[in-house]
Amino acid sequence: MTRATPPDAFYDILRGVAALTGNSVVADLARLVADDMPPEIWIAFNHKQIGSKRWLVDALAQVLPQPQGPVWVLGAWYGVLGALLLADERLTIPAVVSVDLDSTCADVAERLNRRHVAAGRFRAVTADMMALDFAGQDSAPGLVINTSCEHLADVPGWLATLPPGLPLLLQSNDYFREPDHRSCVASLEAFKAQAGLSETLFAGALPTKNYTRFMLIGRR
Ligand SMILES: C[S@@+](CC[C@H](N)C(=O)[O-])C[C@H]1O[C@@H](n2cnc3c(N)ncnc32)[C@H](O)[C@@H]1O
Repeated sequence: MTRATPPDAFYDILRGVAALTGNSVVADLARLVADDMPPEIWIAFNHKQIGSKRWLVDALAQVLPQPQGPVWVLGAWYGVLGALLLADERLTIPAVVSVDLDSTCADVAERLNRRHVAAGRFRAVTADMMALDFAGQDSAPGLVINTSCEHLADVPGWLATLPPGLPLLLQSNDYFREPDHRSCVASLEAFKAQAGLSETLFAGALPTKNYTRFMLIGRR
């Protein structure tokens, strides 16, 4: 027998978990799901996605807790990382700009982060990260994050478009089997070589069941 999940069930459960844990991101997710559940939100919030982003936030809290300007998140999908960054009390982040090529992402990202949008601390932009002009921004980015390096065709080519010395946080992985992945790296050393950072504050690997995720924090 197949039993359909009642539409309000996810909302009720998430509100319950938010009440149990006091976690503001879960409360924001509950509201997002209640309005209209976006396709793939369940992937964006699965334990592997959240695990790699918690790892990111923990590392940032250690080595760069106070970026000196807005944090740009590229390939940001539904804005989950922005929500985690703005919720973490160890970090002092003036604002998050969430960029994705897919035009369906900005609305979801701004609905998930609606409290921060209202406070002027979050905005979502539809753009190709390959074509962004950071030098021409009103306020210079304090940090640029790209957790989707494996999706780019040319990671060194993208890095060459960025101002020298820009603080950067990069993630990639060795999940070569995924058809959307075009720049996977086989090891942390290979990722360091691909990124060619002028200064490295953090370099690490996070093994998961099917692949290993790599992270670098430093300067272009
Ligand atoms: C599957 S998602 C996120 C995967 C990533 N490992 C993560 O969790 O952050 C990859 C996102 O990168 C976006 N993307 C790919 N190429 C891009 C580009 N050139 N500019 C901006 N966004 C891009 C896609 O639209 C997609 O939403």
